[in-house]
Amino acid sequence: MKLIQVTDLHLVNPGEMLVGLDPLARLDACIADINHNHADADLVVFSGDLSDRGEAIAYETLKRRLATLVPPHRLMIGNHDDRAVFLETFPKAADENGFIQTHLDMPHGRVLLLDTVEQGQVEGRLCATRLEWLDERLGEAEGRPAYVFTHHPPFDIHMPTLDVLKLMDHAALYDVLTSHGTVRHIFSGHVHRPVGGSWRGIPVSTVRGTNHQSALVFSGDYRTSMEPPAYAVIIVSEDSVVVHHHDFLQGAIA
Ligand SMILES: [Fe+2]
Repeated sequence: MKLIQVTDLHLVNPGEMLVGLDPLARLDACIADINHNHADADLVVFSGDLSDRGEAIAYETLKRRLATLVPPHRLMIGNHDDRAVFLETFPKAADENGFIQTHLDMPHGRVLLLDTVEQGQVEGRLCATRLEWLDERLGEAEGRPAYVFTHHPPFDIHMPTLDVLKLMDHAALYDVLTSHGTVRHIFSGHVHRPVGGSWRGIPVSTVRGTNHQSALVFSGDYRTSMEPPAYAVIIVSEDSVVVHHHDFLQGAIA
């Protein structure tokens, strides 16, 4: 099973720059690269911060671009998104409670995309309704492996300016996940960095955004970085989950 993770698009008005970069041109390059190299992917997950300011123009532009993406895809939202505005363009993306959450049954298990946004806050939240939804979806999987995507990581990456903005309800998430014991990996966005490791025994990873990155600094103020954009190619087999980071502007394959 091949999954692609694309994250933190931060789209603005078409043609507008963001921190000196063109988010839409980079999304276009990302989609072209996926279509060229990974048209066989089972799923492309866009793990939030689709827009920078939650504006309708960003979602309308994204919808037009997604029409050119060959593999199937699903969208998540992040703290820079506006759930209500997003739903005006993607009305079918909401679950029965109005959250942007979904699950997909794939060859190697169940993929779960969580909505960790508390509108108006930068840090992540999972309310009782969303945790109950997750608990039910994991229960339905009846022991099959589960792969969880969150915008906000539930773990520290030891960069203090980002750690204070992680998923605050991490303990409750851990309780739900471990009550089923089937989660093989958590894939997160939000931090604009390539990070891998484990959190309380659960493998985790994050990936760079398609526009700007976070500088690797372990103290002091937050700093933006001009490291290249990337997406993740995730290969899931019976006995492994492997995450490749692909710098799509620099790593073009002829
Ligand atoms: Fe972001």
